[in-house]
Amino acid sequence: MLFSAQPLVGLALLANTAMAALSSGCGKAPTIESGIKTITVDGTQREFTIRVPENYQNDQGHKLIYGLHWVGGRMDQVANGGDTGSKGWKYFGLQDVANETAIFVAPQGLNGGWPNSGGSDLAFIDSMNAYIDEGLCVDQSQRFSIGFSYGASMTYAIACARASDFRGVAAIAAGQLSGCDGGNDPIAYFGIHGVRDGTLSIDGGRTLRDRFVTNNGCDSMAGAKEPASGSRTHITTAATGCKEGYPVQWAAHDGGHIQAAADAPYAEEEGDHSWVGPEVWAFWTLPELSTSA
Ligand SMILES: *[C@@H]1O[C@H](CO)[C@@H](O)[C@H](O)[C@H]1NC(C)=O
Repeated sequence: MLFSAQPLVGLALLANTAMAALSSGCGKAPTIESGIKTITVDGTQREFTIRVPENYQNDQGHKLIYGLHWVGGRMDQVANGGDTGSKGWKYFGLQDVANETAIFVAPQGLNGGWPNSGGSDLAFIDSMNAYIDEGLCVDQSQRFSIGFSYGASMTYAIACARASDFRGVAAIAAGQLSGCDGGNDPIAYFGIHGVRDGTLSIDGGRTLRDRFVTNNGCDSMAGAKEPASGSRTHITTAATGCKEGYPVQWAAHDGGHIQAAADAPYAEEEGDHSWVGPEVWAFWTLPELSTSA
């Protein structure tokens, strides 16, 4: 009896270790503090803001969450509450719901955008991953990206090209502005789009979503319900039939080209009352995402 129990315990420990995929910064004193960092990527200086959680533990693999700004936006706006500066909208509403369990990063795009020319912005992401992995304890199977507009387009590019490094993404009002290198691998994908978006149409958002509906082996989302214009609400639909560990979700809201969508009775965009942060967090923390599939 004793002998049969021991190997099982050992196996369970091994399995946990493998699932956590701890970075080289684990088990050491952290060498990165919250603040603005500058790194050189292919000869270009790139800046990002990082937020280390208050109860950081160097033996715990933390989630690593990137928040990518919109065109003409800045990293400090992402860190401080978006274009409206709402307290509840720090890192797209995720800082509050993460409750000090995740490392947050807001990178700065060159000239306020993410053209990703020649893969330069993907190289920036790769460099940040390597830098942060070394300085902090990251669960490498729990990296995520969220962005709005141009930042959502870059998040889409990450989903296309870096599905092996990232566990999931959320794209708010995305278009295809940053390319899609590769684009054939499954990754957990949450698309969020306004039915009245006059800047990057919801039709384009559906097309981006459908790439991952296909890659993840889900049933078509062509019939997913969307709210009527004027309804002041949103409808979130989970795709059916997806491969275990690779869900797709789609939230259409009665709003325009906005990041912090809120339902009535709140204003169309309301960082402190948006459902976006809580729904993205719920999606990224689905039990099927907690193991590397
Ligand atoms: C946040 O984390 C703290 C400490 O781990 C815990 O005591 C608290 O219940 C959490 N709050 C929520 C809302 O989950």
